[in-house]
This record gives sequence, structure tokens and C-alpha cells, in this order.
Amino acid sequence: MNIVASLALLCLSAAAAVSGNESTETVLSAAPGDFILLQCYIGANVTPVWTTWMKDGQVVAGNGSYAANPRFALKQDGTLTISEAITEDSGSFLCSSALPDNRTINARVQLQITNIPSTHPDCMFVQAQDTSSVQLNCSWFGAYPTPKLRWGEDGDFQVTNSLNVTLNSSMLHDKQKVTCTALHQLLKQENQKSCSITLRAPFPEGTPLVTVLEGTNLTLTCSETTSLPPAITTWRKGQNQDLIVSGSRYILSFEGPAVKLTIVNISKDDERYYFCRSENALGVRELEVYLTVKTSSSAYTGAVIGVFIAALIMGSAFIVVKVLYSRRHTICLGGGFMQAEDSGDVLDLVDSDDEQIFHDTVPQLHPLANGRHTTLVQIHRIPSSEDHEDTETAGTDPQPPEQKEEATEEAEDLVSF
Ligand SMILES: *[C@@H]1O[C@H](CO)[C@@H](O)[C@H](O)[C@H]1NC(C)=O
Ligand SMILES: *[C@@H]1O[C@H](CO)[C@@H](O)[C@H](O)[C@H]1NC(C)=O
Ligand SMILES: *[C@@H]1O[C@H](CO)[C@@H](O)[C@H](O)[C@H]1NC(C)=O
Ligand SMILES: *[C@@H]1O[C@H](CO)[C@@H](O)[C@H](O)[C@H]1NC(C)=O
Ligand SMILES: *[C@@H]1O[C@H](CO)[C@@H](O)[C@H](O)[C@H]1NC(C)=O
Ligand SMILES: *[C@@H]1O[C@H](CO)[C@@H](O)[C@H](O)[C@H]1NC(C)=O
Ligand SMILES: *[C@@H]1O[C@H](CO)[C@@H](O)[C@H](O)[C@H]1NC(C)=O
Ligand SMILES: *[C@@H]1O[C@H](CO)[C@@H](O)[C@H](O)[C@H]1NC(C)=O
Repeated sequence: MNIVASLALLCLSAAAAVSGNESTETVLSAAPGDFILLQCYIGANVTPVWTTWMKDGQVVAGNGSYAANPRFALKQDGTLTISEAITEDSGSFLCSSALPDNRTINARVQLQITNIPSTHPDCMFVQAQDTSSVQLNCSWFGAYPTPKLRWGEDGDFQVTNSLNVTLNSSMLHDKQKVTCTALHQLLKQENQKSCSITLRAPFPEGTPLVTVLEGTNLTLTCSETTSLPPAITTWRKGQNQDLIVSGSRYILSFEGPAVKLTIVNISKDDERYYFCRSENALGVRELEVYLTVKTSSSAYTGAVIGVFIAALIMGSAFIVVKVLYSRRHTICLGGGFMQAEDSGDVLDLVDSDDEQIFHDTVPQLHPLANGRHTTLVQIHRIPSSEDHEDTETAGTDPQPPEQKEEATEEAEDLVSF
């Protein structure tokens, strides 16, 4: 506990408050646990008619002996005492004392209890207008005396509670770590406090191949969760990558990290490339989505073929059963079902017919290992961080547009349907 230091400081600082109505403003520093005397005036050997003390706009003592806090007390000469000072006692104190000679004395004391917050400084992004730079803010509030902050490894420390820095995107790279360091006189050098942010390029994810029936509504979903600072994600269409805006044809909706594009009443004209483009100061990356539109007439053809196949299978089965039935004596006498070679021919013929039709109707597809059946499943290969040059042009896809970003996602295999 330390009484003298606080008192001495106050005496020095409050000495100007004696004459007239002028108010004074002083700063008083004390450590936690100190006993603090805040005098409204000194030197005038009079007892005030009344004294009121306010802290941060609230009355804390006054009218004789009233005190809002048990650690606070108002003495007869108008002095406010604070025992066992704590960090929260820091604040702006304002006193008013009316003296018997009709003078009013106002004094303002900024009380600061030395403190190191248990928390670390806060590193955060400042919302940027564009992606040409990144602005970061480092703040460490509650530290007294005011700490020194610095962004990065070199450069000067600045005496402040809050420091921002603007980094030009040309100087940034993916996974770059930017650190803010705090220095404080009460903090040993080896116990420096700091915070840091790891910058990350965007990586939009979604389904790259979509097939849809004409006349329906389709929602394409693109999620971008990795980027720091958060990327701006847009949907674009066609070779020119025209920006898609919400309207009657297209509806854009944002659900957390997902940006959803709903295309209303799909027509054959909608069959093209769509791009989910995410951009931040670290770079631009796009997810390509190719949309195939099936016309309802092709769906009709499919249905007809389906019915035809079904009829053929049933018909074949009927023939087989009938043949077997008509030769049941031969089979039984021959001693085994599998020896009925003639009916075997019938079975083979049916099998190959069936298969042929099936090949014509749908593309040959590889079965999924786990037996999962979804509409269209895309294997999505995540490019390694070392892949810097985009050498990728898909051979099978119809004329993919140029990729400008460093890495790209690839449409790989059509797996199942
Ligand atoms: C102090 O203020 C009071 C009213 O607020 C006024 O009546 C008085 O004259 C002032 N005295 C001086 C010395 O300014
Ligand atoms: C002091 O007394 C005045 C007048 O009686 C009253 O308006 C004021 O609220 C009182 N202040 C406190 C802190 O009790
Ligand atoms: C204080 O003010 C009152 C009335 O407002 C007056 O009667 C009195 O004389 C004044 N006292 C001094 C010391 O000026
Ligand atoms: C940093 O962020 C804090 C908290 O949001 C804010 O109070 C402060 O003004 C910011 N500092 C700068 C330099 O923008
Ligand atoms: C900190 O941010 C404020 C407002 O956000 C801005 O006016 C100021 O220039 C920034 N300082 C630095 C060093 O970037
Ligand atoms: C970023 O750096 C480039 C080249 O180093 C410069 O042309 C550009 O003006 C800088 N941008 C900002 C916002 O400082
Ligand atoms: C397609 O979306 C439009 C516009 O939101 C809506 O009016 C219509 O009912 C939807 N049609 C279907 C089949 O969901
Ligand atoms: C969908 O588009 C077709 C033409 O492409 C049009 O004939 C039909 O009326 C549209 N349906 C709706 C619900 O808007």
C-alpha cells in the first residue's frame, strides 16, 4: 500500500484549484491497493458549505458524508478518499465545492490505476473498401500507463491503445502471419504480449457439374470459408464472366459462408459455364460450374425407352418361362437345369439386347465404391499450395474459359447418376 505517493502527486496537481471558479484538470496515477486522496482544493483553510464528487458522470459522494461505495469516504474538508484501490476505480472524477465566501471550486481528476490486462491485444481486420490492401487493427485496452504497440517485426513501437496498419496486397502472400506486439513498463521483456493474424487466399467450393431439367428452378451453392480477410464472393456467367445480379431470372442469397444462386425457370439458354468468384487481397479464385440442361423432350424420350426396356425384359422373361415350361420334361430327364442349352441361348440373347439399349441411353458410368447414389457427384481435387502455375485446361469439357488465378479447381470425374 502506498499513501504518500498518491497524496504528493495530488497536492502538486491540485494546487491550482484554489482561487476563483476556474476548474482544473489533473491526471493522477496510482497502483492497485493504494490509499488515494482526491482533494477538491487545498490551501483555503475553510470548510466547504457542500461538496459533491462525481465519477464518470455518476455522483459517488456528497451532501455531508454520503458515499456510493464502501471504499469511498468524503471528509469534512471535501476530500474524497479511496482505500484499497482497484483497476475499476480508474476514471474521470469531478468535484464541486461551495466555499463560505460564495466561491465554487470545480476540479477534475483523471485517476489511473496502473494495470496490465490479463488478456492479449486484439488483432482484427478493418472492413476494407477494396481488395488492393488489407487494413488491420491492434488494440489493447485497459492497460495503464498506455502501452506501446507495433505491427510486424521491424518499425517503431508507438504509445497507443490501438494501432492500425495498412498492408499493400502486392506485399502479401498466402498463409502470411502478421503479428502485433505490445510493450508495457510493468511487463518484463520476455513476457511480451502479442496477437497475430494469418492471411489466407480464398477457396470457393461447390459442385462443378450440374444437370437439370428445363423449366425447373435450380440453386447453385458456393461456399467460401477459408479466406482471411473474408473474401468477396460473386457469381458470374458465360465466357465473359458477366456479373450476375439479383432479379427476376437470378436470385442471389447469402447464408453464412454460402452464396446461393437460384436460376428461375431454367431454359436451354442457361446451359453454360458459371463461375463462383472469390476475391480478397491475397488473390482471386474461381469455382467453375458447368450446367447441363435437359429438355423435357429428352426426358420424354428417356421415359419411352425406359418403358420399352421394361416391356422387353418382361417379354423375354415370359418367353424364357414359357420355353422352360414347354421343355420341363427334357430338363427333368436331363438331370439338371443348366444343361438345357437351348434355353441358354435365349437367355444370352436377352442379356445382350438389354445391355445394348442401356448403353445407348446413358453414358457409361463407374459405380461408386460406397454405393451412394446422388444425381451427379464431382470429385473435387484440392490443388496443393505449391501449385503456382495454372497449367490446367480440361480436355473433355467444352471450351473452358481462361483461368487467371494462380490455382484452380478441376472438374474431374463424373461418378454416378
Ligand atoms: C463563481 O461562480 C458563481 C456562480 O457560479 C458567481 O456568482 C461568482 O461570481 C464566480 N466567482 C468568480 C470569482 O468568478
Ligand atoms: C444532495 O442534496 C441535494 C439537495 O438536497 C440533492 O438534490 C442531491 O441529490 C443530493 N445528492 C446526493 C448525492 O445525495
Ligand atoms: C454570498 O452571497 C450572499 C447572497 O447570495 C450574500 O448575501 C453574501 O454577502 C455573500 N457573501 C460573500 C462573502 O460575498
Ligand atoms: C481498432 O478497433 C477498436 C475496437 O473496435 C476501435 O475502438 C479503434 O478505434 C480501432 N482503431 C483504429 C486505429 O481504427
Ligand atoms: C487507422 O484507421 C483510421 C480510421 O479507420 C484511419 O483514419 C487512419 O489513417 C489509420 N491509420 C493507419 C496508420 O493506417
Ligand atoms: C501497392 O503497391 C503497388 C506497387 O508496389 C503500388 O503501385 C500501389 O499504388 C500500392 N497501393 C497502395 C494502396 O498503396
Ligand atoms: C421458381 O421460382 C419462382 C420465383 O421464386 C417461383 O415463383 C416458382 O414457384 C418456383 N418454381 C418452382 C417449381 O419451385
Ligand atoms: C418458363 O419459360 C418458358 C419459356 O422459356 C415460358 O413459356 C414459361 O411460361 C415460363 N414459366 C414460368 C412459370 O415463368
